[in-house]
Amino acid sequence: MDQKILLKESDIPKQWYNLAADLPTPLLPPVTPDGKPIGPEMLAPVFPMNLIEQEVSTKRWIDIPEEILNILYRWRPTPLRRAVNLEKYLGTPAHIYYKDESVSPPGSHKPNTAVPQAWYNKQFGIKNLVTETGAGQWGSALAFACKLVGLSCKVYMVRISFDQKPFRRIMMNIWGATCIASPSNETNAGRKILAEMPNTPGSLGIAISEAIESAVTDSSGKTRYALGSVLNHVLLHQTIIGLEAKKQLKIAGEKLPDIVIGCAGGGSNFAGLAFPFTADKISGANMEIIPVEPTACPTMTRGPFAYDFGDTACMTPMLAMHTLGHAFIPPPIHAGGLRYHGMAPLVCQAIIEGLFKPRAIDQVECYKAALLWAHTEGSICAPETSHAIAATIQEAKKAKEEGKEKVILFNYSGHGMMDMLGYDAYLTGKLAPYELPDTELASAEACLKQYPKAPQRKSGKW
Ligand SMILES: Cc1ncc(COP(=O)(O)O)c(C=O)c1O
Repeated sequence: MDQKILLKESDIPKQWYNLAADLPTPLLPPVTPDGKPIGPEMLAPVFPMNLIEQEVSTKRWIDIPEEILNILYRWRPTPLRRAVNLEKYLGTPAHIYYKDESVSPPGSHKPNTAVPQAWYNKQFGIKNLVTETGAGQWGSALAFACKLVGLSCKVYMVRISFDQKPFRRIMMNIWGATCIASPSNETNAGRKILAEMPNTPGSLGIAISEAIESAVTDSSGKTRYALGSVLNHVLLHQTIIGLEAKKQLKIAGEKLPDIVIGCAGGGSNFAGLAFPFTADKISGANMEIIPVEPTACPTMTRGPFAYDFGDTACMTPMLAMHTLGHAFIPPPIHAGGLRYHGMAPLVCQAIIEGLFKPRAIDQVECYKAALLWAHTEGSICAPETSHAIAATIQEAKKAKEEGKEKVILFNYSGHGMMDMLGYDAYLTGKLAPYELPDTELASAEACLKQYPKAPQRKSGKW
């Protein structure tokens, strides 16, 4: 039995898979605060038209340009690995496979979309990209992609991560990007927040506001914004993960997985692995698909489905999604990439359909799982990834109780070599379990009341 299943470069998928083509109930459109649908032309100051076309596309397969593949070959196809040592430790009959996205140069799945986004912007004549970053994984991935493609890059990094993860900032600087702690004094959105809350740890919502403002106020017309998760085109680019995994599972002699797991911040690594398998579930396959989030930021498991802004300063279109409210500032848990108030609309619509069953896990259980992983499989995972590992361990134990040889597949979204402070806090007993109190949830959601309602529509098949 091989512990790693590798594909040849010539086996790399040549098209991305678009779940929007197969969802039984189409997505609700993005709208303005007074409920008017937003057309592609209204997004043009923010994104290049070639990416907007992908954002609204309902074509099932979208070709990956050869020039993008040529950059992805630096690390793709990524290995599918079997966690035989964890299986042995748990004494589970389950077969545990994981797609190792930590092997990319920046160390996570994020460059799978950073490279295409930089490439399409360049094709459109754009010279500069601006973005936000939570944990620093996305910022470093976009810095890397912009350097390879030939664009300049500016990153607003959430203050708490900027302080906790100086090495991620240095990585961005190595790849030639500028990195600014958010909230900053550089934008109206940042100045306003700093005046109200001078000691705020920041949030992805605030950093997104600053990045969009910085992009759209550049008078050269050659600057656009890039987002590392949530939007349809970002999830589309990530589907290369699941498409490779399908081929690799077949080589390993497995049929479809019984359980597919990914951690979910904005939903992109989870979707990247899960969407190609969701197509099989829509066609009748029996499969459990589980996005995992922290109990500190329980967007999918406790947030209502509502129209909300993607950012704190209300600059983005309103998206129909599970949300804790755009004013929500999540507690500073160490999995910075999972501290986002919203969730990808495509993931949310599949949750409403009953295709996915989201789960929230506490950070202490996640770090415990990360340590067990390091002690058995050996690698040190990103704190975000530990949520997927914790759910995998829960499922492997359940398979043992049931005596079933289930195939579990999860996404190893990144390594944790830059996340030592979180590990240190856990190892020295400074991390406590944290579940968001109902009172905080209610006050966070209060900002949603005045906006259009998002009806929950489903086919009733699942
Ligand atoms: C390693 C890792 N995993 C997961 C995530 C969560 O993002 P997403 O839900 O878009 O995959 C992040 C975000 O920064 C990350 O760095």
